[in-house]
Amino acid sequence: MNKSVKGSTVLHYVTFLLGGWLIIATAKRCRTENRTAQFCFCNLTQIPSVPGDILEFFLNFNLIMEVNATSFPRLETLVKLELGSQYTKYLIIRNDAFVNLPNIITLDLASNEMLILDPHAFAGLSNLRNLLLYYNSLNESVLEEDYFQHFLLLEFVDLSYNHIRRLRPHSLFSSLHFLSILILKINRIATICEGDLRSFQGKNIIILDLSVNWFYKNDSHYCGNPFRGIVFDTLILQGNGFNSDKMQDFCNSVKGTSFVQLKFGSHIMGPGFGYNNTRDPVKETFAGLAESSLKILDLSVGGIFSLNPHLFTNLSDLVILLLSSNKINQIQKEAFAGLQNLTHLNLSHNILGEIYDYTFEGLSNVKMIDLQQNHIGSIQNQAFSGLEKLENLYLQDNAIKTVYFFQSLPFTFLINVSENKLEDLKDPINATFLDFRANRLKDLGNLHQILQVQSVQYVILKQNRLSTCTAMGNISEDNQLLYLDLAENLLQIIWESNLCWDIFSKLSKLQTLNLDQNHLKFLPQHAFHGLTSLQKLNLSSNLLSYLFPGVFPGNLTILDLSKNQLLSPSPEIFTSLIQLDITHNMFICSCELSSLILWLNQTNVTLLGSQNDTYCVFPDAFFRVPLYQITVDGCDEDTILKPLRFSLFILNTVALALFITLVVIYTRFRGFCFILYKRVISIIIDDQKLDVDASACKYDAYVCYSGTDFEWVQNALLKKLDSQYCSKNRFNLCFEERDFIPGEDHINNVCDAIRNSKKTVCIVTKQFLKDGWCIEAFNFAQSRYFTELKNVLIMVVVGPLSQYQLMRYSPIRTFVQRRQYLRWPEDLQDVNWFLNRLSHKIVKEEKVRRKDDSLQLQTIATVS
Ligand SMILES: *[C@@H]1O[C@H](CO)[C@@H](O)[C@H](O)[C@H]1NC(C)=O
Ligand SMILES: *[C@@H]1O[C@H](CO)[C@@H](O)[C@H](O)[C@H]1NC(C)=O
Ligand SMILES: *[C@@H]1O[C@H](CO)[C@@H](O)[C@H](O)[C@H]1NC(C)=O
Ligand SMILES: *[C@@H]1O[C@H](CO)[C@@H](O)[C@H](O)[C@H]1NC(C)=O
Ligand SMILES: *[C@@H]1O[C@H](CO)[C@@H](O)[C@H](O)[C@H]1NC(C)=O
Repeated sequence: MNKSVKGSTVLHYVTFLLGGWLIIATAKRCRTENRTAQFCFCNLTQIPSVPGDILEFFLNFNLIMEVNATSFPRLETLVKLELGSQYTKYLIIRNDAFVNLPNIITLDLASNEMLILDPHAFAGLSNLRNLLLYYNSLNESVLEEDYFQHFLLLEFVDLSYNHIRRLRPHSLFSSLHFLSILILKINRIATICEGDLRSFQGKNIIILDLSVNWFYKNDSHYCGNPFRGIVFDTLILQGNGFNSDKMQDFCNSVKGTSFVQLKFGSHIMGPGFGYNNTRDPVKETFAGLAESSLKILDLSVGGIFSLNPHLFTNLSDLVILLLSSNKINQIQKEAFAGLQNLTHLNLSHNILGEIYDYTFEGLSNVKMIDLQQNHIGSIQNQAFSGLEKLENLYLQDNAIKTVYFFQSLPFTFLINVSENKLEDLKDPINATFLDFRANRLKDLGNLHQILQVQSVQYVILKQNRLSTCTAMGNISEDNQLLYLDLAENLLQIIWESNLCWDIFSKLSKLQTLNLDQNHLKFLPQHAFHGLTSLQKLNLSSNLLSYLFPGVFPGNLTILDLSKNQLLSPSPEIFTSLIQLDITHNMFICSCELSSLILWLNQTNVTLLGSQNDTYCVFPDAFFRVPLYQITVDGCDEDTILKPLRFSLFILNTVALALFITLVVIYTRFRGFCFILYKRVISIIIDDQKLDVDASACKYDAYVCYSGTDFEWVQNALLKKLDSQYCSKNRFNLCFEERDFIPGEDHINNVCDAIRNSKKTVCIVTKQFLKDGWCIEAFNFAQSRYFTELKNVLIMVVVGPLSQYQLMRYSPIRTFVQRRQYLRWPEDLQDVNWFLNRLSHKIVKEEKVRRKDDSLQLQTIATVS
């Protein structure tokens, strides 16, 4: 019963405070709605008339000066009345003012600058439970006289911010059997002597809040035990200027009284840091509480510098000890002696620098130690070794560099070492939940160390510097890892060095993987194989532009790909999902994107983020146009193809047979065939067609290659195509060794060459990829595609370069994803054919064709 009373009244209090704000926000309604009369801020000087069946009546912030027996009509159903914060100098409550409101439960008269109560002001309020009288300039007479005589069920009284100087409640309080919370915060009470609280005897007070009163003013010793005979749950004495001597006097004076909780926060015990005037508490300070069976002691916020030996030795029932926000720098040997029942120790926000083997000695039942926000740099190896029951250890925001103490740590549920200075993890850790966020870890291989232990289920390695990976030992097949957060690291550097591509392969239980903000430009094709349980994957804020089909595991349901550089992803990748975020990418709105656009329009997958942020960036006309506003009418080749398919099948079968015979002939004699073909063609059509329109450009083509490849290029290409090498050749080529102006800036030369040539032919070899100038030239030539809508770039790959090696260079990747490139033939007999193809490509004018290549794009917005 008591617990629920406490809960509900505290809740009332909180909802009142919140309610106050809401009222201000939605004020000035001045009417009744849903049986609630809202008359705040209505400039009323008298109680307005309201329907007889209202439940709540709000009259705060008006100009009412007096309430008397005739003010209110009979309101049988009213349960809550608020009459606070009148803008008048005073509010007088006359005798019998509330007799017409027999059922109110909550009465709020708070924040009236001066509240004047007639002796029978509260007559008739026999059902009232909550009375709010804070900030009313009331003095002690409100408790000492018989104003409260009419209450029977009163539970909660808030008298904070008044001028009460004594606590000697009238004897009528002994019949207020339900009174359990009395708030007297911020008054002027300086002493309470034995006998003052006689009328509270036999009561079960849940909370008596005496914080921030004037107890510091009283120099004399306490006059007996004022709390004798009262059973307390919580006594709050925060901010009362208790130094160690006063604390000792107080504890001695309440000897024998039981408390569950004593709150002494904001005390002035201890010298703080750098002072010597007030002393730290000692063994004797709390000795008076030996028989109080105290469970919770709050000493947070103060100046304690040193925890002296046997300080809490008499508090053997203590379960929770709060010492946060002091200046604790020293924990003496046996400081915690006698606390064998303690489970909760909060030492956060102090200035501890070291933890010794003896520091926590004797805390045999402790489950939680909070050491966050200290200056801990060193922890002795055995510091936590005897704490067999330890479950949660908070060490975040310190200066820890090494964690040898992990070796002697008993099994612990949670260890938080975030925001420290860890550089390496060498020891396995017995825990379930490990948080290493914001350290200086470099080696992703540490994950192998961590996963040596079966119990590990959650690992947070976010915001480290993971950029290398030395795999030491194997990740055990039956690891239990469920959650792995690797966000804000440098995984791209690891993967582009071909390291640890298979780091996730054995994490078969993993459900959530965060890889956001890792500068990832690509995903190794099998990176996620083995993640058979993975449900949620976050790849947000990377640099991904292309995704291999099948790269994601089959059970994936939530995928975040927002803030990447995806150009034209295929919707097949997303079919297993339930939630998907692809906002803020770089979609190219051409026909290739139509399958995605169609899919987005009809999918059941929940699309996260605002769909206005899923937009095109190219072509310019569609820059930032959301995908949902784009129709794909011009791109329905798929549907046209359908009826054709069957006839195509028959045709194909016949053609195939024919083709195979031809292939056999061709593979054997293709060089010969080509020469034959050329002869025939040159007879039939006059070769003049190949003649180049030289009017616009100085050169037909600029040949871009790495300097080291010059010999080869000259022999294989230039000699066969350039007219200066041989008069039969018809092209006027441009290349560095001959045509660049010596002394001119290299980049200018390159730009001029590209500008003055109809086409740019890039000879991509291993050397080319290593040459920064070449990549620049490639990039520049490609940019003409976007700026002039001209496709001037021809890419010729020479030598054994894999698709993957090419994809590592973003300009090349962009090209490869959009256009075809040529490969230098391996078989010599194909060279003539190849050169012919290249010549055609050089000659062919390739505008970026809007009609048939890009979408017939329409913005719905402009249509409607
Ligand atoms: C306390 O308040 C009452 C009523 O407001 C007043 O009559 C009385 O004089 C006050 N007592 C003191 C000591 O100020
Ligand atoms: C503080 O006082 C103690 C004894 O009174 C003395 O030994 C010590 O040197 C003092 N320390 C400082 C910093 O003044
Ligand atoms: C320890 O106390 C601090 C300050 O009151 C608080 O923020 C923190 O949550 C507490 N720690 C735990 C584990 O409750
Ligand atoms: C992915 O990580 C980003 C932070 O990088 C976060 O804002 C986003 O909410 C995460 N996505 C999901 C689906 O949790
Ligand atoms: C979407 O959900 C409906 C009803 O649950 C289902 O009938 C339909 O097939 C689903 N569509 C897709 C594309 O999954």
